[in-house]
Amino acid sequence: MNSADNTHNGENTASQPLEERVNNRSQRPSSAAFKAFMASNWAPAPQVTPERDAVAGHAAKRRRAISDQFKGERLVLPAGPLKVRSNDCDYRFRPHSGFAHLTGLGLDHEPDAVLIFEPVEEGKGDDGGSHRATLYFRPLAGRDTEQFYADARSGEFWIGARPTLAEFEARLGIPTAHIDELEVAVTKNVGAPEIGGVSIRLVRKVDENIDALVDTARYNTAKDPDNLDLGVLDALDEKLSEALSELRLTKDEWEIEQMQIAVAATVEGFTEVVKALPRALTHFRGERVVEGAFFARAREEGNELGYDTIAAAGNNATVLHWTRNTGKVNAGDLLLLDAGVEADSLYTADITRTLPANGKFSDVQRKIYEAVLDAADAGFAAAQIGVKFRDIHTAATTVLAERLAEWGLLPVPVEEALGEDGQQHRRWMPHGTSHHLGLDVHDCAQAKRELYLDGVLREGMVFTIEPGLYFKQEDLAIPEEYRGIGVRIEDDILMTSEGPVNLSAALPRTADDVEAWMAGIYQEIDAKD
Ligand code: GLY
Ligand code: MN
Ligand code: MN
Repeated sequence: MNSADNTHNGENTASQPLEERVNNRSQRPSSAAFKAFMASNWAPAPQVTPERDAVAGHAAKRRRAISDQFKGERLVLPAGPLKVRSNDCDYRFRPHSGFAHLTGLGLDHEPDAVLIFEPVEEGKGDDGGSHRATLYFRPLAGRDTEQFYADARSGEFWIGARPTLAEFEARLGIPTAHIDELEVAVTKNVGAPEIGGVSIRLVRKVDENIDALVDTARYNTAKDPDNLDLGVLDALDEKLSEALSELRLTKDEWEIEQMQIAVAATVEGFTEVVKALPRALTHFRGERVVEGAFFARAREEGNELGYDTIAAAGNNATVLHWTRNTGKVNAGDLLLLDAGVEADSLYTADITRTLPANGKFSDVQRKIYEAVLDAADAGFAAAQIGVKFRDIHTAATTVLAERLAEWGLLPVPVEEALGEDGQQHRRWMPHGTSHHLGLDVHDCAQAKRELYLDGVLREGMVFTIEPGLYFKQEDLAIPEEYRGIGVRIEDDILMTSEGPVNLSAALPRTADDVEAWMAGIYQEIDAKD
């Protein structure tokens, strides 16, 4: 290398395209002899025909429900691509939740995959519907191919075996096709229905390559391409996202099982955190000790975290989205832990407990804790079939406003605070009390307001109840004794025909039960030592 004239072996290295420079760090043999050797003499990949996944029948019903809403149109649902974390390192892959819901796929299945609903004559589609669905993806390449040993992003040599077309077809009951056929499948016959064309609806902003493919197809087949009304097309696409979100407002039997799995693993994670607390108390970043103890369980028993853990001690517990978790945990602090394990199916729990770091609540901590618990219980009592979703929040915040008034913190009478023109209590409880929960921690986010906040509670809904009180250190509107204390109690609730069931009830909720639970864990550890 001559750095002065930018040449190497006679080549001008300054003109090498940047995307090729990733290969400058290592030597890559490229001789025909090497390629032939690398592509030979591997045992054949095992040929197994897996059983049908338990989710397959449920996912088929979900696809049918979507098919019924969009007869005659092609529906395109991408899983999404790998996303770069830094340079040539990707984030762990997670498919889009709408894709996961309609295919039944979880874990890291499958980057770049796309589920397409092709419209067919009404009644002649899958399960008597109006579409036939096909899953397009990049299947496992043979061990005699260059992809096997040379593709660090998808080759078996680098990342392990991936599914074959036959394997996914057998597991999911969905016909599969190679990703090389995707472009034609998305774009063929696109056009206005009146001239025999097919219109497309796309779940947008999941895979920009697919967005571009659909946009180009629409542009190329439009009557007047230069005056395409993008607003109209966006609205078409948004209707599909809305329908996918609304379909998840109630969970089927299989999904409820997945929620129970996610909650059970999360309960284990909270127990691990209690065990780790003595070490957290001695560490300069005790909150990270807490975060790490929970994360280990999430990876051991599930796929991942459903969202970044909030491990917040002392005043950090008053910061609603404290995910930095860089703080110390001191003996007199409350530790607010908001964490959820995402199961292999990608369903997540979302649970918060507020624990006294040294195992005992102080009087003022207990007083605040019990107010929040009463609010949670009021929310739980309000959660009945046929009642509006928003009524849970009203019930919980009414209790909090009353308590704040009793303590002399509300600057106005309770009735005034509870009115639309008041809401002063929201200074200390600024977030909603409940959200739907499932594949996304904030599930069903594109559902219409009349089905969400103004919707009525129905059997099969899963949502949180999570009131809190957050008194910041710097809050001069309250006496000093309250400052630097944040409390939230969050449970995951399943609506049944008999009323609400607390899926996370295995974690203690009352102050006494929390203290006894922590003491029991430490006694067990001491007995073993
Ligand atoms: N952990 C996010 C939430 O509670 O909504
Ligand atoms: Mn939540
Ligand atoms: Mn939470």
